Amino acid sequence: MELATTLTSQTVQNAVREVGINPDYWYPVGWANELLPGNVMPVMIWQQAIALYRDSNHQIHALEDACAHKGVALHKGKVEGCHLTCPYHGWEFNGTGECVNVPYLPKDQKLPRALVRSYPVQEKYNLIWVFPGDASLAHTCELLDIPEFQHPDWVMVRVTAKMPAHFSICNENSMDVFHGYLHQNLQGWFSPVLKSLRETDSSVCAEYEVSYKGHLAKFLGLSDSANEITTRTTSVQYRYPHYYAHLEGISTLYLMRLPVGLTESRSFSIFFLKIRLPKWLRKRIEPLLQTILSRFVFMKFLKQDIEMMQSEQQTYLKNPQRRYVEINPAIIAVERLIMRQYEQFVQKSSQLPMIRNRRPEAIASGQVESTRCDEGKGINGNGE
Ligand code: FES
Ligand SMILES: [Fe+2]
Repeated sequence: MELATTLTSQTVQNAVREVGINPDYWYPVGWANELLPGNVMPVMIWQQAIALYRDSNHQIHALEDACAHKGVALHKGKVEGCHLTCPYHGWEFNGTGECVNVPYLPKDQKLPRALVRSYPVQEKYNLIWVFPGDASLAHTCELLDIPEFQHPDWVMVRVTAKMPAHFSICNENSMDVFHGYLHQNLQGWFSPVLKSLRETDSSVCAEYEVSYKGHLAKFLGLSDSANEITTRTTSVQYRYPHYYAHLEGISTLYLMRLPVGLTESRSFSIFFLKIRLPKWLRKRIEPLLQTILSRFVFMKFLKQDIEMMQSEQQTYLKNPQRRYVEINPAIIAVERLIMRQYEQFVQKSSQLPMIRNRRPEAIASGQVESTRCDEGKGINGNGE
């Protein structure tokens, strides 16, 4: 649906600052190359602690980070073959979360009925994605498409960030092109105009006209000279729960959001830039370009943004009753979407008996048998 682009005063619904996530989406939890075989990585998706581990077959598994025996964090344990062993009494769990060995249990005795929740997990774009919601829906939820990934025309830069703020604050920052004011000293953009705004049940898409000037604009290929003002269209999309920004064939940013908790979020960003250099030269200087772009461009912008987001969160916490005013209809639309997605999830959950784990028959029967390595794969995929 097309929305009006007029900047008009609206009151922010403070409830959006405490709203939960719709877990029936894929969330990024870490870079795949950073989890080596035999290693465990603790992650958190909206207050759910998860232990990720890569087994000896290079397969990643995601288990609830709490041993079924006494609740000790499983990420403190170690990977043995395809299993994760708890550090306390050595109970072993396979990739589907079943207890497959208790080292001190006589061999002729049946294993206890003990199961930890397992989550669908997959690797794509060098990211590890976990589906924290109803596992039976994981197959129906598609991961975003990144056509630029490993495409020779684009230089790719990866950036990870931690924000001490609720994910609504972070998503609004990403959608809010009017905060170019903050980045003036970095020669960011200026004179933004909201040209179009559309929303669907799961997305908000805004087009802004934005002006650039300066050495950074020249370096990024936006203009031929640093003194020249160039005006471009940038398209900013929030496709729940992630975010994309395209700048007229020059650059694309995919910002994948991980809501950690009420006042903590993370982002895994992949930025693609078209550099106007011969391919052979670009290949040679690519690592240097990536370092420069990450350290001297992204991190500088990000540092300023994070300071604002933290301040916004802190002030909110001091007085959650206080009313705030927004005039950008794109931000109001993002808030509406975040609220709607959560409400849809709550409504759907209230109609279901519970969000089930996989293999409910195994829990019900208590008959849990030792499994082979390749039986615990969940829906792990190899996206690259
Ligand atoms: S608490 Fe994990 S094995 Fe005892
Ligand atoms: Fe910013």
